[in-house]
Amino acid sequence: MYRVLVTEKIPFTDYYKDIDFIYKPENMDSHQWLMESINDADGILITLSDRIDSEIIDAAKKLKVISTYSVGYDHIDVKYALSRNIKIGYTPDVLTESTADFIFGLIICIARRICSGYETIISNKWEYRWKPDFMLGHDVYGKTLGILGLGRIGHAVMRRASGFDMNVIYYNRTERDVNGHVGLNELFSRSDFIVITLPLNDETRNIVNKDLISKMKKTAYIINASRGHIVNEDDLYNALLNRDIAGAALDVFDNEPVRADNRFVKLDNVLLTPHMASASYETRRDMANLALKNLELGLHGLNPEKYVNI
Ligand code: GLV
Ligand code: GLV
Repeated sequence: MYRVLVTEKIPFTDYYKDIDFIYKPENMDSHQWLMESINDADGILITLSDRIDSEIIDAAKKLKVISTYSVGYDHIDVKYALSRNIKIGYTPDVLTESTADFIFGLIICIARRICSGYETIISNKWEYRWKPDFMLGHDVYGKTLGILGLGRIGHAVMRRASGFDMNVIYYNRTERDVNGHVGLNELFSRSDFIVITLPLNDETRNIVNKDLISKMKKTAYIINASRGHIVNEDDLYNALLNRDIAGAALDVFDNEPVRADNRFVKLDNVLLTPHMASASYETRRDMANLALKNLELGLHGLNPEKYVNI
């Protein structure tokens, strides 16, 4: 029997008869629990809320595989794990389309103020008469969409944009075989919507800062569903507060969870969602299957179906 530590309940584990799944107690801190339990574990099945640092990796004596139920792996000390011959499985592809759907939803909601409209009703602020200048936002169709990071998700967002007759430009460190590549400054100065679909790493941390934000049009929006740390939150907050840009839709933050007393909540030009871009029944089912498949292959000493290789 393989011993596997699991930090969140996931479906389909019954299928794996040679794996003993050991679950983290609900009220226990994951770092502490992993430190105490990882000594003789063969594998761990984690999420992006579980930080796997060198301390945890050092405490593991038999660990063969880290399987993360996420496409991002910035919560794992990848270099160190790989140097210890520990395989790392993750879940790309299966969440691409649902994440792109959600990003497109954020674009439309922030530009056309759909959530503000709902908020207006539930807070009883809808006045009796229909007014020509009530709840005005900006159009989405025909506008310029700027994609920062043209990976799988960026491509999927790009495909959706063509149905809205958008002009799509993108910046990627290495130019892709797709029309529309521009420099970073140009991406920010020309776009009406900047969508961030970059992975978080040393090169992308804080890449969106006041220098770039100051290039944006006053009528432009930022949409981030990747990782909070890619954007300098202070710089973004100041730009929103001063109305240097039209707004931002954020699914990810420096510190999650975000509470109602967060400074962004007091702004009227933001849309905030709780890190849910891949949260569809279908996608979470596929992520569970892939994470388990990755885990099983790693336990058997093989490369996971989708593995991190830097
Ligand atoms: C979500 O943010 C993921 O990395 O899967
Ligand atoms: C993320 O998975 C991406 O490649 O866009």
